[in-house]
Amino acid sequence: MFSNNYTNRLFGRTRGRSKKKINLKNYYDTVAKYKFKNFNDKSEYILDIGTGYGETSIFLAKQFEDKVVISCEKYIDGNISLLKNIQKYNINNIILHNGNVYNVIEIANKKHFNLVWIFFPDPWPKNRHAKRRLITSDFLIKLHRILKENSEIHIATDSTVYVRFILNSIFNCKDYFLWLNQSEMNLYIKDYFNIETKYYKKAINSQRKPSLFILRKL
Ligand SMILES: C[S@@+](CC[C@H](N)C(=O)[O-])C[C@H]1O[C@@H](n2cnc3c(N)ncnc32)[C@H](O)[C@@H]1O
Repeated sequence: MFSNNYTNRLFGRTRGRSKKKINLKNYYDTVAKYKFKNFNDKSEYILDIGTGYGETSIFLAKQFEDKVVISCEKYIDGNISLLKNIQKYNINNIILHNGNVYNVIEIANKKHFNLVWIFFPDPWPKNRHAKRRLITSDFLIKLHRILKENSEIHIATDSTVYVRFILNSIFNCKDYFLWLNQSEMNLYIKDYFNIETKYYKKAINSQRKPSLFILRKL
């Protein structure tokens, strides 16, 4: 179903450092129950990219019960936590793509999405790794193509290097998106959403202030 010709590799870990024993058969059996296969033109979708332990997907699914959240993450330990919480909270509007978000974007040939969340994308702060950063103007323009009119992208980061990079990417696609909160006094996530993901907590514990960018499709 997915073509293999996407050029954008997915970097980062698939398993946690703890190497806690995981029953992979059980994992893949459970993933199969929630796995994203294709779009249904009758549904409206939210794209949640790089969901880690899945806190954002659970938050979005509860907040938008009439939408389907596509949670994209390859990190097995994180997906196990998401799958547990889907069952714990009896959630029926999350589907999981346990791989690269580019696979989903590739087959979204229509304006399928009402909202995109990208919470704490890997910043790859070293210059020699800059090409690994997910958020570029090219990537934002790809999202523009699959977003419905007036819909939004929400991006959170605590990395000053990535903030500069994201600002540059936003500037380079200013004909595609309006940066809605650029004139706000601050860009703090908690002014908008009551959510704490693993990387949000890490940032706060290290005295780094995460910023939130809200872009609206033009
Ligand atoms: C720093 S973690 C953030 C996790 C979570 N959003 C949070 O706030 O705690 C970034 C995650 O993005 C995932 N990721 C990076 N590139 C991705 C891609 N192209 N498609 C899907 N997931 C991706 C990584 O596997 C990683 O788990």
